[in-house]
Amino acid sequence: QKNGQLKGRHVVISAGGTVEAIDPVRYISNRSSGKMGYALARAAVEQGADVTLISATSQLPDPVGVRTIHIQSAQELSEQMFTALPHADVIIMAAAVSDYRMAQTAQNKIKKQDSGELNLTLVENPDILAQLGSAKTGQYLVGFAAETQNLMTYAQNKLKKKNADMLIANDVSKDQVGFGYDTNQVTILTKDKEPEMLPLQSKITLAREIMKKISIAINGQVEK
Ligand code: PMT
Repeated sequence: QKNGQLKGRHVVISAGGTVEAIDPVRYISNRSSGKMGYALARAAVEQGADVTLISATSQLPDPVGVRTIHIQSAQELSEQMFTALPHADVIIMAAAVSDYRMAQTAQNKIKKQDSGELNLTLVENPDILAQLGSAKTGQYLVGFAAETQNLMTYAQNKLKKKNADMLIANDVSKDQVGFGYDTNQVTILTKDKEPEMLPLQSKITLAREIMKKISIAINGQVEK
């Protein structure tokens, strides 16, 4: 179906939790299942968009009708997002990106230490959303904020600091909200409108509502 509000638009979505190798058998990651990003990809296809999904998970089947690229680390995700940027109309960063990676990934499996403790040195990963926010040339940029406290303050800061057009804030300390669940509850922040709190609902229903809001924003239509 290529007749929706996003017909002819290229939507690029990141999903899942990035994986940072510690050694050949161990990694640093997070509890993102990819469900939110995959639901957004499905909803964008339903709206007629041409969709690229940059996915950090292999636990979900590739969505039908979506060009899916699998990556692991934040650096790989960054490369793919910047490759996609020039051809994108909408970019949505739903992935949970590791803020840190190993300063140096160990070549061999790290052995148990006689001292009884092991110190890992981590270095900061690029903030992909913020870098996209600086580099964008008219693309509509959407970020998420996953918080366990001060949801609205932190989310407002992220909207501004990362130069996003829309920020979707979820309080992931709540039951049924965020990481791993089939449901989510978010507040949507934009530069020019009052924050809008949406009810707890399935990720696919929420994704359809988010894609509708994005299509209204980029098509300049009046919301019904
Ligand atoms: O995958 P699910 O199990 O369905 O769960 C969904 C979700 C909780 C992962 C999703 O709804 C969500 O909130 N995704 C963003 C998670 C996150 O990393 O939030 P953050 O507040 O740490 O980051 C803020 C924004 O900056 C996000 O858009 C993130 O993609 C981006 N970011 C963060 C760090 C970084 N180094 N680069 C980034 O681009």
